[in-house]
Amino acid sequence: MVSKDLKPVSSTAKKITTHVLKAMKQHGEKISMLTAYDYSMAKILDKAGIDVILVGDSASNVMAGHETTLPITLDQMIYHAASVIRAIENCFVVVDLPFGTYQGNSKIALESSIRIMKEAGGHAIKMEGGREIKESVDRILSAGIPVMGHLGLTPQSIYKFGTYSVRAKETEEAQKLLEDARMLEDSGCFGIVLEKVPAALAKSVAESVEIPVIGIGAGPDVDGQVLVLHDMLGLNIDFSPRFLRRYNNLFEQILGSVEEYISDIKKRDFPSKEESYK
Ligand code: KIV
Repeated sequence: MVSKDLKPVSSTAKKITTHVLKAMKQHGEKISMLTAYDYSMAKILDKAGIDVILVGDSASNVMAGHETTLPITLDQMIYHAASVIRAIENCFVVVDLPFGTYQGNSKIALESSIRIMKEAGGHAIKMEGGREIKESVDRILSAGIPVMGHLGLTPQSIYKFGTYSVRAKETEEAQKLLEDARMLEDSGCFGIVLEKVPAALAKSVAESVEIPVIGIGAGPDVDGQVLVLHDMLGLNIDFSPRFLRRYNNLFEQILGSVEEYISDIKKRDFPSKEESYK
């Protein structure tokens, strides 16, 4: 637990780094993480004091309207990440390696990661999977690029699993996940996202590794939480899993504003004399 008398680690650090994130875990300070894909939203998140922005490949869903995360390209991820990087001052920015840019070929994985660091200015990359991507993880880390793992529900493998249901409910899969988390830590990853797994398993993963474990649908006993911005703001109303807490209903609010704007034009109320030039 964080002592009430002590300042949070995140508030004494000028900028959030992988070292600050690890110190936050050691001091029991929870890590806040949200996705962002563009300049304007990233500016708000950074000003609010978010610790980590994830430029997630969920951009494929919420920005581009695809059904899965598979279609988004490396060029598109770099475009989103560069927009986010231009907006931020303090937070740490992790960028997803999209599907097809790292699986099965560690040389390509390194090249993809270097492009994210050089062309977008990302601070770290995230990739889905455990032992099956170890060679790529090692190669990227050996180039000095921080890597975040992603275990549990891994949306890039949706066609392998067939559903977005809770993962690792059975002992064998839970054991494999625990071993993968330890392997990612031993390789040198600075953190792990754990998606949609039973809360008790997430707790034991967080207790088994020293690096921060950030949960999404993984219960409260992990080192931090991440949500997709469009989901938590109520912009994306088609998605309401049990783990999602909605902090706003922006879809309804924006709809109302746009309807008012249209109506003002139709009834010749906008623009007024004061909104016009002499
Ligand atoms: O792409 C993404 O938004 C993610 C989160 C669900 C963790 O990977």
